Amino acid sequence: MKLFVDTGDIEEVRKAAEWGILDGVTTNPTLIAKSGHGFKETVLKICDLVPGGAISAEVVATEYDQMLKEALEISSWHPQIVVKVPCIPPGIRLIKTLSGKGIRTNMTLVFSVNQALLAAKAGATFISNFVGRVDDIGDTGMDAVADSVDMINTYGFDSQILVASVRHPLHVVQAMEVGAHICTMPFKIMEMMFKHPLTDNGLKRFLEDWNAAGLSIFPK
Ligand code: E4P
Repeated sequence: MKLFVDTGDIEEVRKAAEWGILDGVTTNPTLIAKSGHGFKETVLKICDLVPGGAISAEVVATEYDQMLKEALEISSWHPQIVVKVPCIPPGIRLIKTLSGKGIRTNMTLVFSVNQALLAAKAGATFISNFVGRVDDIGDTGMDAVADSVDMINTYGFDSQILVASVRHPLHVVQAMEVGAHICTMPFKIMEMMFKHPLTDNGLKRFLEDWNAAGLSIFPK
């Protein structure tokens, strides 16, 4: 499963990229607004920090002609950019147009397998299925992800299911269990994936024993 970080914060991208396990970055208008920097400037810095990674940048218009203009502008900024498009009727039409032009797309704000089917039929590269926002209203967000993964596999679509709106490390585990292709998460969740108390205790003990024995890797 590919791992993306969901952020507009350059420092977070830099740290995650240093670990060497980052496959891409997702942004959205809220995250870019939070970054306090310009859209193009932020997205281009992210592209530089994650060479070869898929970097999602979202259109903000909701009417087809303007959405298309924005999509062509955004995709002209850098070859790594994936145009993110909301799951509304002109958005589906836009995905179809962009996929015909060979431009990679990410259909966002997907909550159901029906929406995922429309996105897959239009040729979306990635389908962002939000889980946390569904859990927040008392339902099980991962159910639609599982159904969408089955749908993609059953019918042989090329789209990849991207688990979004991740709230905790268990969502990452569940994304793997249902066979999602990608999981995007806030940087703090990626940090939490490292954490295990037995790792911390085990390392502490190893180092105490090593130091107590006066050992050294290099000749003293
Ligand atoms: C997806 O790409 C979105 O940017 C994101 O995962 C939204 O998550 P939220 O529900 O935490 O805002």
